[in-house]
Amino acid sequence: MRPGFAIFAGAANPALAAAIAAELGAEVGACLVDRFPDGEVAIRLLEPVRNREIFLMQPMSPPVNDHLVELLALADACRRAAAARLTAVLPYFGYGRGDKRHGGQEPITARMVADILETVGIARFVTVDLHTPQVEGFFRAPVETLTAVPALCRALHDRLPPGFVVVSPDAGRAWMAAEYAECLSAPLMVLHKRRESGAETRVGGVGGDVAGRPCLIVDDIISTGGTVAESAAALARAGARPEFVVAATHGLWLDGAREKLERAGVSEVFVTDTVARAANDRPGLHVVSVAPLVAGALARLLECDSTRGVQGSPRGYGG
Ligand code: R5P
Repeated sequence: MRPGFAIFAGAANPALAAAIAAELGAEVGACLVDRFPDGEVAIRLLEPVRNREIFLMQPMSPPVNDHLVELLALADACRRAAAARLTAVLPYFGYGRGDKRHGGQEPITARMVADILETVGIARFVTVDLHTPQVEGFFRAPVETLTAVPALCRALHDRLPPGFVVVSPDAGRAWMAAEYAECLSAPLMVLHKRRESGAETRVGGVGGDVAGRPCLIVDDIISTGGTVAESAAALARAGARPEFVVAATHGLWLDGAREKLERAGVSEVFVTDTVARAANDRPGLHVVSVAPLVAGALARLLECDSTRGVQGSPRGYGG
């Protein structure tokens, strides 16, 4: 490992951690990430961190709470061993969808998690495609939000049929869909989605002419697959060509999601590796690595004063 900085990783995505480290000409630092018999997280750093710049790599993918506590424990271990500064690299920020209250008696979990992460001494954050840009404001520490949309568009470029339309499942995703539409020089359409529960969504009317046209449905997360499947069904009812391509940054692929997409007529899916790949990948699934994107950001952070941030890499949110 290069002197001066070290990368440690929790158990959430060791392959991505190794790929990011390799891009930086480094290796992931040795540490023990285990469980006590009662399920509590056990951590031990096996390399010195004193006076070193530390990057802690951990997407908050399922099991979300376990991965969160691993990250907290790693940070606490580094802080107590006198690391110079801690940067959490969260390729997927779990709880990001908890960015507002839907009624009077709910928490704002995205803010709560941001507070907890800062409590253990994490001084800055690097993340990819937050659910909403304003989540960045929940952190007092600097946050570098990167975007995988250009990398996904490069992968999609030659795979899309002529005349396709970029579709956002709801108004909340329109800003991201607009980035795809601009990058791919395609028209944009926004559907109307209503969330019935954590696992159930309803997608309503299609405003615009999709008759006979192929569609690229884009989202930030594929979790249960319900949003994409409902969007595809609504588009099919409106006469779209029932052969859909899907792009999303974070593929959580909860049980049954793949089958749901297949039944909905989704032929190809493009996701990144922010969340560890399942062993049972299927044909039609394309995984674009964010390792070069994240490693580039870390290299720039190592080069310049962190308080001035990464130059030129973050997402340029248009509003
Ligand atoms: C919700 O607002 C997100 O942008 C995604 O649409 C959602 O998290 C996808 O979840 P699922 O695959 O369970 O519908």
